[in-house]
Amino acid sequence: MTSTFVDIPEQFQIKKLVDQNTYLVDGALIPWRGDTSKVYSTISSTEDYQPTLLGTIPILGKKEAIKALDAAVSAYDKGQGLWPTMKVVDRIACMEKFVVQMKTKREEIVKLLMWEIGKNLADSEKEFDRTVEYIYDTIEDYTQMDRDSAKFVKSSGVNAHIRRGPLGVVLCLGPYNYPLNETFALLIPALIMGNTVIFKPAKHGVLLISPLLEAFKDSFPKGVVNIIYGRGRTVAAPIMQTGKIDVLALIGNSKSANALQTQHPKSNRLRLVLGLEAKNPAIVLPDADLDLAIDECIAGTTSFNGQRCTALKVLYVHEDIIEEFNKRFSAKVDALKFGNPWEAGAKLTPLPEPDKPAYIQDLIDDATEKGANVINTKGGETTENYIFPAVLYPVTKDMRVFQEEQFGPVIPVISFSDIEKPLDDMAESNYGQQVSLFGKDINTLAPLIDTLVNLVCRVNLNSSCQRGPDVYPFTGRKDSAVGTLSVHDALRSFSIRTFVASKDNDYNNAILKDLLDSRASNFVSTDYIL
Ligand code: G3H
Repeated sequence: MTSTFVDIPEQFQIKKLVDQNTYLVDGALIPWRGDTSKVYSTISSTEDYQPTLLGTIPILGKKEAIKALDAAVSAYDKGQGLWPTMKVVDRIACMEKFVVQMKTKREEIVKLLMWEIGKNLADSEKEFDRTVEYIYDTIEDYTQMDRDSAKFVKSSGVNAHIRRGPLGVVLCLGPYNYPLNETFALLIPALIMGNTVIFKPAKHGVLLISPLLEAFKDSFPKGVVNIIYGRGRTVAAPIMQTGKIDVLALIGNSKSANALQTQHPKSNRLRLVLGLEAKNPAIVLPDADLDLAIDECIAGTTSFNGQRCTALKVLYVHEDIIEEFNKRFSAKVDALKFGNPWEAGAKLTPLPEPDKPAYIQDLIDDATEKGANVINTKGGETTENYIFPAVLYPVTKDMRVFQEEQFGPVIPVISFSDIEKPLDDMAESNYGQQVSLFGKDINTLAPLIDTLVNLVCRVNLNSSCQRGPDVYPFTGRKDSAVGTLSVHDALRSFSIRTFVASKDNDYNNAILKDLLDSRASNFVSTDYIL
């Protein structure tokens, strides 16, 4: 690959650094005068390659982290806080206020998404818009949930008014590949259900939260949202050690999730909502529509450079079609355009982690030493911030690229004659999120589908794997997830069923009637949100 530099259009140039010199705790943006760390983009602003400085963020310490925790604990106030006891309509009003302010920041956030994590313009815009839509869908779903529970039920002479209540204090940590969308897919349902939150942005994709700090401060009561910066080890670990966290909400890898979970002194109290790593395979059967399968495998393996938990990370292709598949697939990979995120048609874009190209090269070297070939012409070509996707074939189980979640641009291909091979590999694998299955003959597909649904949690028929639409359940088995996220399921994950029960007699019923007529309780209410 030749030098990646081309003139940066005026509207995408970095003209002003984002110096994030405050953090949000207890409803106030607190000025930070301590150590800071510089945030660089791996994208160069000059012809001679050099990372671009984007701004700075605070490096908070244990003391500030515990203050943020104290603020969240006191906003929850043992369940008596303003937020957890607030009427559903009022919590929704706060969320609506937030999303209105958020929408005004689209341009700024999209630009930072491109610079901070190298996501192309179309996908950055999609990430923003999808997040806004997610918030509106969450509001709608919660409204419906509230309508459905605006009633009493009676069984065995006991009246019950059943709702879902908050769990308490949530520690929320998001990933760098979807620093806005995935993080908000945790944060928003956690908040709307009445929990209070401490949120630490991801290592890459951190400055793009800055434009939203004021909106968080203005929209929610103090202490409900607390946003801190710093190293996980320094800030998240001490928070967990207090035992005051009720929910660990994390999208990332199981290593960090396990490390944090074990810090909590009472693991039985800790609810987990985790979206973790995956190694989703594609299985291409001999009767598959090859054009379709190749196009979907290209999207599945290369969109956002393979840095998606749902990316296709290993391709199993039947031996009858492997030659044709490899030839056409490799040619299509080589035809993908690499460029900066704002360049028209750029499908491959700079990697945000400076050490990623070297890691991918290690995987390629390990595989080629053990007998694989790089079968595409451009595979492994390297620049300062990129390594072109290498299609590796034949890949075997002893290779690191088979065993590790590569989370980057390298594509292992395996051929099979017996369908038991991919099935056995999936059963042995540590992961169990999704699979893509390409084929047509229902006599083959039917038993396969029946098995695959028990190995993973979504079988994508003739299409690549993906999380969306966000109303569908997103989860995984083994090391791939704990809990289920979708617009609806996330509301359930961040809440618990809780209810008021009373024996059906005149004495109790008169009290219930008074409670309802007086509207004195926000919980005991049959008000219907229109
Ligand atoms: O990184 C994992 C994301 O949840 C993937 O979402 O399938 O919409 O790219 P996506």
